[in-house]
Amino acid sequence: MDVDRELLVRKIKDGTVIDHIPAGSALNVIKILGLPRGSRNRMAIIMYTSSSKMGLKDIVKVEGLELTSKEVNMIALIAPTATINIVRDYVLVKKERVKIPELIEGIIKCSNPNCISNQDRETAVPKFRLVSEEPLILRCEYCERYTYKKDILRQFGIGR
Ligand code: CTP
Ligand code: ZN
Repeated sequence: MDVDRELLVRKIKDGTVIDHIPAGSALNVIKILGLPRGSRNRMAIIMYTSSSKMGLKDIVKVEGLELTSKEVNMIALIAPTATINIVRDYVLVKKERVKIPELIEGIIKCSNPNCISNQDRETAVPKFRLVSEEPLILRCEYCERYTYKKDILRQFGIGR
């Protein structure tokens, strides 16, 4: 990347860069992570920037944030191409591509109100099998009802 462009948004010192987000989805990523969390997490949101691999992509840079594995899995569901870059003292120490787990536990709820995972008195943690990544289809381990991307977006309270 040429220097002028790099200076458009500075490198971060300590934190996380979520790169290769499908163009237009950065605000959804921000929303599911509950950012900004006060003024602690200085952040940059870069949208519709050009990418050699993706055409256009979004990037979210957040200072002072390290993601939990649950948060990484939530990102995988809505931004399956994302890479998570961990930066410490300006150095990139880890880069990982998000991956939707084969078994998704405790992240989303089953849309079947009669499912055992939706009964208050039961303690069944919602569990889904990954059926297909594109289009995204999950199947409830208990009642076998399918969950689609639109259901997941609705649960996260976000648009398309
Ligand atoms: N980055 C940053 N601050 C740092 C180090 C890296 O903001 N101190 C950002 C870069 O600007 C880039 C991302 O983290 O958006 C990944 O950095 P790097 O692996 O160096 O870039 P690329 O080689 O372009 O990444 P990839 O191969 O994943 O496309
Ligand atoms: Zn169910």
